Amino acid sequence: MRWVVQNETELLDIVKVIAPLLKVGDVVALYGTLGVGKTTFVRALVKYLTQQDIDVPSPTFTLLQMYDTPNFELYHFDFYRLKHPEEAYEIGIEDAFENGVSMIEWPDKIGALLPRKHKSLSFEILPDNSRVIEAENFK
Ligand SMILES: Nc1ncnc2c1ncn2[C@@H]1O[C@H](COP(=O)(O)OP(=O)(O)OP(=O)(O)O)[C@@H](O)[C@H]1O
Ligand SMILES: [Mg+2]
Repeated sequence: MRWVVQNETELLDIVKVIAPLLKVGDVVALYGTLGVGKTTFVRALVKYLTQQDIDVPSPTFTLLQMYDTPNFELYHFDFYRLKHPEEAYEIGIEDAFENGVSMIEWPDKIGALLPRKHKSLSFEILPDNSRVIEAENFK
């Protein structure tokens, strides 16, 4: 699946497709450069899943934010500041990957610790500032 979105409001259309496909044990790698919109997507997803206008800060410094949603706990990781993949164990990836749904910014930072059968969302910025979002392994 592939979409082009002109603004943040249009993310809701994608979120409505992706959200029902998420289930406990899913690990979703969010690929794309600085400022491409990974956190913004998770923010839209959390708001849709919870149906609440809750605060969804970037996990840049905390590395992890967690949200209760009706069907699963959503773990939002940002591994940009990780120095070694093993640090991810200290943050709790094992529990998250098994018992929740994990959304991961900068997944390459954990190397081989990223489960082989992960789903992915890849983001790109077009010259007109719109975003291309491509989803893989969702069924
Ligand atoms: N779909 C979109 N359309 C237009 N602007 C967007 C869209 N998504 C995000 N933005 C804007 O891009 C900026 C950066 O977004 P965001 O923080 O989500 O990026 P990020 O990929 O999480 O970056 P980082 O890797 O630094 O965490 C924000 O100011 C946001 O408003
Ligand atoms: Mg971010």
